[in-house]
Amino acid sequence: MYAFARKLLFSLDPETAHELSLDCLGAAERLQLLKPFVATPVSDPVEVMGLRFPNAVGLAAGLDKNADYFNALGQLGFGSVEVGTVTPLPQPGNPQPRLFRLIEEEGIINRMGFNNKGVAHLVAAVARRRYRGVLGINIGKNKATPEEQALSDYEKCMDAVYESADYIAINISSPNTPGLRNLQFGENLSHLLQGIKRRQSLLHEATGKRVPIAVKIAPDMTDDEIKGVADALVSNQYEAVIATNTTVSRDEVPHSPHKEEMGGLSGRPVAEKSTHVIRVLAEHMQGAMPIIGVGGIMTGADAEEKIRAGASLVQLYSGFIYRGPALVSEAASAVAALS
Ligand code: FNR
Repeated sequence: MYAFARKLLFSLDPETAHELSLDCLGAAERLQLLKPFVATPVSDPVEVMGLRFPNAVGLAAGLDKNADYFNALGQLGFGSVEVGTVTPLPQPGNPQPRLFRLIEEEGIINRMGFNNKGVAHLVAAVARRRYRGVLGINIGKNKATPEEQALSDYEKCMDAVYESADYIAINISSPNTPGLRNLQFGENLSHLLQGIKRRQSLLHEATGKRVPIAVKIAPDMTDDEIKGVADALVSNQYEAVIATNTTVSRDEVPHSPHKEEMGGLSGRPVAEKSTHVIRVLAEHMQGAMPIIGVGGIMTGADAEEKIRAGASLVQLYSGFIYRGPALVSEAASAVAALS
């Protein structure tokens, strides 16, 4: 059935297709029309960050930036859904067009630029939660906030989402917010990581609830840089690392007509880079912190490869666009078969 829907959706401009499919999915869920069409979720419970995930396959951040559709998306069999990236204030993102399909390569280039309705909207949306899996909330900084004040934006988002989130993801790896990825290195990184941990302790004390925090990193780092980030995360006692976001490299798509488009490349072309990062993290950290593997999972075998490289959980985005909901159970079954 998805092959038919995909034909229709891929005949539309990517952003229109995105909005149309999510609107239809949301309406179907509200009218309780979804259930008969979806397979029973794969049951393969796994405990990570102190949370029980019904299965190891999650929806990656960026598809449901405002948490407007997570109840419906959750019905497609995901063990977790990560909403966001959300910023303190609403912002329009970059001018369109900003989303491109690389069909031959099974990739996507996006330079959305954190278009979102702001954290207050997201918190109100999340209050209407029916989804019973794990809910992650991915947070970032507004484009207009200077890099030196980034921590303050993350703190504002943490304050707002803390009580609604099962875990919080810190996005310091999107290539589409100028300067954001500089937060992954040196003094910037230590300052940010310490500040976020301080805030987590304060919020823990104030609410009595401990919400684990995962940090999402880019695939475009040298092995030494990856190890540097890993050391900083472990020494600051972070609960998990999400590897990876999209790549700015175009090495894997030399023939695509879209290769000159600015933005982050995802899907099959980022798979190997992302698995490499997971492998370097796993070998370096020796189990000190769980890894959530994401990047180019287009089949069950790809999900399996991420787990074999050292991930405890995986997430999908582009594969879900190319393959549809069938990929969720295919990936979850492949991971379940490993245990
Ligand atoms: C993303 N991704 C993303 N990540 C994030 O942390 N915050 C975000 O807002 C977004 N937005 C976003 C938009 C679009 C259109 C795409 C394709 C991707 C990155 C995503 O979560 C994931 O890390 C990468 O896409 C790699 O996984 P896939 O797509 O290869 O499975």
